[in-house]
Amino acid sequence: MEKEKTLVLIKPDGVVRGLAGKIIMRFEDAGLKIIGMKMVWVDDEFAGEHYRMDIEERHGKRVRDGLIKYIREGPVIAIVLEGVDAIRVTRKIVGSTYPNDALPGTIRGDFAHISRDYANAKEVNVRNLIHASADEKDASVEIPLWFDGGELHSYKTVHDIVCFEE
Ligand code: PPS
Repeated sequence: MEKEKTLVLIKPDGVVRGLAGKIIMRFEDAGLKIIGMKMVWVDDEFAGEHYRMDIEERHGKRVRDGLIKYIREGPVIAIVLEGVDAIRVTRKIVGSTYPNDALPGTIRGDFAHISRDYANAKEVNVRNLIHASADEKDASVEIPLWFDGGELHSYKTVHDIVCFEE
């Protein structure tokens, strides 16, 4: 069984609110390994590749257009995390998509509270601070979109030595 890799984006609201350090700490505390990290200010075309058309099919054009605008409001911090069951564990640390549903102790639950109903009624974005790959399929598309192979690094952390080696 191999360790997994997943993509995390600290979206522009997380960056301008000065939450990057606190957010990154949550992943490090759980022992997930940062194997790639950079700040990027994406253009329209790139944002459209990240937020693919299936979002429009599931949530409508307003939501996808809004996401593309939101992620371009400022720079984002893109991170690749590696660990055991990293995709699911990262989503658990991040919390539910709609911050009003996200449990205390999760990033979205602790730092935001907007709901889906409010966002839909007011036609605003769900500013939920983070994007995290939903599943293995999404991670396998999103990681190479954001990172070249040479930007991902292989090294040992204390967790590797203490938790994963006998
Ligand atoms: S996920 O993470 O892919 O399982 O989530 P999903 O429910 O498919 O949502 C995809 C992205 O759409 C955002 N979203 C919304 N934004 C604004 N208004 C509404 N109603 C809404 N519903 C979903 C959601 O935050 C996901 O974006 P990211 O950047 O992944 O959080």
